[in-house]
Amino acid sequence: MQILENISLQAYNTFGIDQKAKYFVVIKTLEEAQKLVKEPIFLNHKRLILGGGSNILLTEDFDGLVIKNEILGIQKTKETTDHTYLQVGAGVSWHEFVLETIQLGLGGAENMSLIPGTVGAAPMQNIGAYGAELKDIFHELEAVEIATGSVHHFDKDTCEFGYRESIFKHQVKDQYLITGVTFKLSKKPQFNTSYGAISDTLQMMQVAELSLKAISDAVIHIRQSKLPDPKKIGNAGSFFKNPSIPASQFEQLKSTHPNIPGYIQEDGTVKVPAAWLIEQTGWKGKTMGAVGVHVNQPLVLVNYGGGKGREILALSREIQSSVKEQFGVTLNPEVNIY
Ligand code: EPU
Repeated sequence: MQILENISLQAYNTFGIDQKAKYFVVIKTLEEAQKLVKEPIFLNHKRLILGGGSNILLTEDFDGLVIKNEILGIQKTKETTDHTYLQVGAGVSWHEFVLETIQLGLGGAENMSLIPGTVGAAPMQNIGAYGAELKDIFHELEAVEIATGSVHHFDKDTCEFGYRESIFKHQVKDQYLITGVTFKLSKKPQFNTSYGAISDTLQMMQVAELSLKAISDAVIHIRQSKLPDPKKIGNAGSFFKNPSIPASQFEQLKSTHPNIPGYIQEDGTVKVPAAWLIEQTGWKGKTMGAVGVHVNQPLVLVNYGGGKGREILALSREIQSSVKEQFGVTLNPEVNIY
């Protein structure tokens, strides 16, 4: 484990923003994580823990220590009649983990195929897509407490998962370094094709028999057709969260915009697709210098090459103002801004 200085972070964030880290370190084991939290450079600087860098926007150089988590490994830890438990290193790529579950015939992760990022970052914001969320297959996670270096385990209830939310973004923010996650996967998979686009795609692909692989292939197909590949065009997936608004406000908006989509939530609020709101304001497909709003999915902001983090931030603020002005709805970023 070596702490490097003045390292460009361009290769470590999927927006491809060229900002530097004052200090940079890679950790590959739990023991290295425990050692790192006692190092003077760690103790005396602000820190940024990176997984795949697929959910961050860098607007300036990071005047502290960037920690790249590369703890690998996938191990079966327990098996019951119905479930298999897999313990996965925080640095494993999320999609690599999903492919492994499909290979092993284990159900639960297939709808979340091709989400960028790492396993360790996934619980932070309870990632989800196409009718599934991390919390549906989460068993527990292992993390090093930064203040003491001791290892803690968090079960599902303790993590307080919500829509793109967890305790790690709030009560215990910056207090733990996640080193591994244990998933509870089904040996008798129940296929979930309720999300419209999946069944349409399966039909289009002329799938005769439903399988984990078929669902994964369909999700990969949908994502590749709608979302830009970060290896080609810099982006961090959805830039904003889908806002939830009071039912009364939704009814009012419906009277002026009869086509507005909305999904009623358990708490009575209505979740409105941010993509729809942004499209109505005319931002879909627009560019501002080297950055822009993706042409197929307006929730995704993109860096066409050489764009600055500050330009993306400025664009996001313009979009927020337009949506606020036209609909009275506040869009909050899903991406973490530094
Ligand atoms: N829509 C438009 N115009 C568009 C695209 C979408 O109006 O150009 C509206 C439509 O009404 C559509 C609705 O938005 O029915 C939902 O669109 P989509 O299915 O693409 O999903 P989303 O709500 O925009 C969320 C996640 C994505 C995830 C998809 C699929 C958030 C913030 N985003 O997007 O997650 O892949 O659902 O499940 O919840 C991510 O978090 O980075 C991410 C990509």
